Amino acid sequence: MAAKRQPIISGNWKMHHNHFEAIQCVQKLHYRLDGDDHSSVDVTVHPPFTDLRSIQTLVESDKMQIVLGAQNCHWEEKGAFTGEVAAPFLAKLNVAFVIVGHSERREYFGETDEQVNLKVKAVLGNGMTPIMCCGETLEEREAGQAEAKVERQVREGLAGVLKEHVAAMVIAYEPIWAIGTGKVATSDDAQAMCAHVRKVVAEVAGADAAASVRIQYGGSVKPGNIAELMSQADIDGALVGGASLEADEFAAIVQYRNHVTG
Ligand code: 13P
Repeated sequence: MAAKRQPIISGNWKMHHNHFEAIQCVQKLHYRLDGDDHSSVDVTVHPPFTDLRSIQTLVESDKMQIVLGAQNCHWEEKGAFTGEVAAPFLAKLNVAFVIVGHSERREYFGETDEQVNLKVKAVLGNGMTPIMCCGETLEEREAGQAEAKVERQVREGLAGVLKEHVAAMVIAYEPIWAIGTGKVATSDDAQAMCAHVRKVVAEVAGADAAASVRIQYGGSVKPGNIAELMSQADIDGALVGGASLEADEFAAIVQYRNHVTG
């Protein structure tokens, strides 16, 4: 039996908070969280690129336990790719986690499974941890294609990745119809798909990797629904959008153990 997986709750700020707002938000979050919160949950924040250096400096100078993340990167180390940011640049800022293949990047910027796979490898190759996203649209769910879609995204995203690397990764299951809509998946549906993701990881990278990989649920996570989601066997954390922008609300999510489930 594998050791218990450490929960991980991540705030994906998307295109919100300039660097001044980001500093305020992280300072407030730091005051809301205590040592017990940090020892029981890994907390990562993923600000826009322009905020990263400010947040790095803040976190390091005040010895905060909040972990710095990014939202995307390019797969090449450098080159003529106007507007892109390379993984080594993020590593230099002590970024630890990088979201890869978010559904908004796939939908609005045309990211393919093959590109997601290249990004996963670039993040790992630079000593950081990918949070690789997968998830189905409402049409796909209604057509009974949700499992197949997620399976394809996980298989192609992890193609050629070392088992030890898969074991240390985070995979975020985010049903697209639940993102920013206030419609959260039922905890049973979220659990079923996260269990499916773990089964696919076992097929791709073996039982040990499947037992260790951490799987987040994302999509309208709020203080009121987090405890129920976190009580599910295969849900190890959450990728939080809107509710991570305000420090009090995000702290309440991180402190889900204090909530009464029901
Ligand atoms: P919301 O929490 O705003 O639904 O966003 C989820 C998400 O996309 C996190 O990556």
